[in-house]
Amino acid sequence: MRTQVGIVGAGPAGLLLSHLLHLEGIESIVVETHTRRHVEERIRAGVLEQGTVDLLNQSGVGGRMRREGLIHHGIELRFNRRGHRIDLFELTGGRAITVYGQHEVVKDLIDARLQADGQILFSVDQVSVHGFDGKSPSIRLRSAGEPLEIVCDFIGGCDGFHGVCRPSIPADALRNYEKVYPFGWLGILAEARPASEELVYSNHERGFALLSMRSPVLSRVYLQCRPDEELEEWPDDRIWEELQLRFQTDEGFRLNEGRVVQKGVTAMRSFVAEPMQYGRLYLAGDAAHIVPPTGAKGLNLAAADVRILSRAMANWYRNRDGGLLERYSQLCLRRVWRAQHFSWWMTSMMHRPDGGSEFDHRRQLAELDNVTTSRAAATNLAENYAGLPFEVI
Ligand code: APR
Ligand code: PHB
Repeated sequence: MRTQVGIVGAGPAGLLLSHLLHLEGIESIVVETHTRRHVEERIRAGVLEQGTVDLLNQSGVGGRMRREGLIHHGIELRFNRRGHRIDLFELTGGRAITVYGQHEVVKDLIDARLQADGQILFSVDQVSVHGFDGKSPSIRLRSAGEPLEIVCDFIGGCDGFHGVCRPSIPADALRNYEKVYPFGWLGILAEARPASEELVYSNHERGFALLSMRSPVLSRVYLQCRPDEELEEWPDDRIWEELQLRFQTDEGFRLNEGRVVQKGVTAMRSFVAEPMQYGRLYLAGDAAHIVPPTGAKGLNLAAADVRILSRAMANWYRNRDGGLLERYSQLCLRRVWRAQHFSWWMTSMMHRPDGGSEFDHRRQLAELDNVTTSRAAATNLAENYAGLPFEVI
């Protein structure tokens, strides 16, 4: 098979890249190891920055998001048993976030690709990438038991943190930066009306907790745990009991409880591979960088990467101008590192440190006090949380 761009991975990065390339008149084939059902039902992130929302709308895949997404103008930071609202909208001159599950974005993108006769090969295996140090890269795989080779001009490495693309780059050509945190998040999806209209980030002596949502009747709630926490140790009753403690306020706040329909533990890390390119293989999204979820940046960074990559490729096909492609990594990394800093900062302000001392907790409370009383500090948080406009980075 032959196409212009071979894309490994049908997550948000790979699918959005394929969609944006299509709008530029560039053909691509996406290959994915999991089934369509798996990628459409996998519960992941859920907060879209204004820029990501604008990109989805401008590229014609925002219809359902506009109808079903929940627009939030603020978030709450809770500590010392009190809530403090950060007014994102007012502090950023009118930017908001949209709560809309990553798997919903994935469904919308798959629909758009298939409607435009785009090719996505699901359930493939033995994927490997070749020849990207020359002019004719290829992706080899097995599909329905048959070997297949896709020859292309470029490869989009959009196969997530555990994919094959990044490890296929010679080790001495990449530099990895990594920080692993000594905690994880235990997340649940519950059939319960969210007890707050906006997201609540709570710093509590027992550990961090976050109240988010997927709809007016579905709560998505997380609590800080060990990175290797055993789910068996957390029957639903224990989860709710712990969550109620961590969200307590002097005014008697209670979460609404309901049937837990999904439960999982995520370890937390910060990771960047530089550069995000080798020859004709371009890494995008989680394949190139991971952020801890506290800043809600992962999906948004993936979208920002492929926005630049699709433009750079369009410039190459249209004008044979490789300038933007050459600068791809450099252009992405500025936003990536900005998000790395913000995500690390939010994480260290909100979580109980491993074997945390009373000093650390007091320091966090002082920082939270600053962020919720100084307009300058709150504006900094709001700008980063709502996301920097694409023109800025
Ligand atoms: N061959 C083909 N596909 C692969 C391979 C492989 N060898 N390895 C992994 N994949 C697929 C995965 O099954 C997954 O569907 O690549 C896809 C990568 O998707 P994501 O992990 O969702 O990564 P990305 O598209 O970069 O999106 C980043 O995902 O983890 C969240 O918070 C993160 O929201 C962010 C988003
Ligand atoms: C989510 O809804 O899954 C979510 C929200 C905010 C975060 C992380 C995850 O910071």
